[in-house]
Amino acid sequence: MSESTYLSILQNAMNNAYAPYSNYSVSALIITDSGQQYIGCNVENASYPEGLCAEASAISAMVVAGEKKIKQIYIMSQDQTGATPCGGCRQRIREFADANTLVTLCSKDKVISSLGIADLLPNSFGPGHLL
Ligand code: THU
Repeated sequence: MSESTYLSILQNAMNNAYAPYSNYSVSALIITDSGQQYIGCNVENASYPEGLCAEASAISAMVVAGEKKIKQIYIMSQDQTGATPCGGCRQRIREFADANTLVTLCSKDKVISSLGIADLLPNSFGPGHLL
């Protein structure tokens, strides 16, 4: 599937985000090693801390489907400079990432940059520390 198709999937999900309190809509699209796609958007709540980030929503969809390896995750927001994942979502992505995982940051109509998880979360804590 082409990058422009990914961008339109992300735009559609961003348009469906439920963000009436922040007015900051975000979407996330995970591609797994098997080539499957999982999409998410932020879902806010009148009880503010109960809101869910787009990345968490996409990760939940991936795990429900029985997958646990993120090959690439696209994250889109309306920022001209591109989305950037919050600290909590960096840790959530890290749980299902490896050294080859790409985190691709998008504005509302284009890819801005791609980074590795180690760039976003250096010296991170992960599953290996608990084995
Ligand atoms: N948000 C995300 O969905 N992902 C992030 O990584 C950053 C923040 C959402 C949470 C909230 O609904 C809105 O953006 C403003 O913080």
